[in-house]
Amino acid sequence: MAGLKMVRTDSVAASAGADLRAENITHMFDTDDGALLALKDVSFTVEAGTFVGLVGPSGCGKSSLLLMMAGLLLPTDGRIAVRGETVSGPLPEDIGVVFQESSLLPWKTARENVEFPLYLRGVDRQVREKAALKMLDLVGLGEFTERRPHELSGGMKQRVAIARGFCQDPEILLMDEPFAALDEQTRMTLGDELLHIWDQNKKTVVFVTHSLTEAVFLCDKVLVMSARPGQILKEIDITLPRPRTYEMMATETFGQLRAEIWELIRETQAK
Ligand SMILES: Nc1ncnc2c1ncn2[C@@H]1O[C@H](COP(=O)(O)OP(=O)(O)OP(=O)(O)O)[C@@H](O)[C@H]1O
Ligand SMILES: [Mg+2]
Repeated sequence: MAGLKMVRTDSVAASAGADLRAENITHMFDTDDGALLALKDVSFTVEAGTFVGLVGPSGCGKSSLLLMMAGLLLPTDGRIAVRGETVSGPLPEDIGVVFQESSLLPWKTARENVEFPLYLRGVDRQVREKAALKMLDLVGLGEFTERRPHELSGGMKQRVAIARGFCQDPEILLMDEPFAALDEQTRMTLGDELLHIWDQNKKTVVFVTHSLTEAVFLCDKVLVMSARPGQILKEIDITLPRPRTYEMMATETFGQLRAEIWELIRETQAK
């Protein structure tokens, strides 16, 4: 895998991330079986420019929380605030979202997919094309810019999705299990690449994952959630220095942090 080139998308306004807060979020979904309490009094702060992980058992409300942060789902109670302002609808210029590979538009090329959010914002064609090409180069896809998703591997599609997220240059990047469908080797490599890009851009990142190793490796802070109804059990500061290296995974600190998160999840799952 070729090393990453450190290039900024300087043609699109640079931003250093914004702070994000969840304040006493409670959420009920209406289902055929009646109301379902998905989240209960969830509060946390994501400082500007930090990388925060969200982990917890399946169904604890991680994706729902992410949708709320993206302004795509309104909480029954409580609020999400970006720079202190309540989020009441999508903020496409401030918030980028990276989901799984299915979110690429199959009829568009890698470049067109990366450009798409800028297109929606009415950014000039030449400017958005330049930004997309730079970002695709950054994620090692400089030779695949005109390929469509079906011509790319799973890992390459994820790179396109990440390039799209960063190309938009949002203040906040929300990622919902972006590497879930990939093999361990590819997800480790992509995680490493993501850190390199983040290091250059210092966005505020909220990253949902089921991989505790990934959470400890990537994050400044990990929010551990309880089984449904989702609550924050603990905020764990990841005290490992940056830049993170693979060697750190073998350290005692890494093992202890991972074990602490696992113990919390195991206990909440057993209840
Ligand atoms: N649109 C919806 N309508 C009804 N119930 C929903 C809806 N979306 C989510 N839920 C329910 O809310 C709970 C939380 O779902 P959510 O998708 O947020 O969990 P999650 O933590 O992301 O899980 P996973 O780790 O499996 O992705 C689940 O019990 C789910 O069934
Ligand atoms: Mg989910």
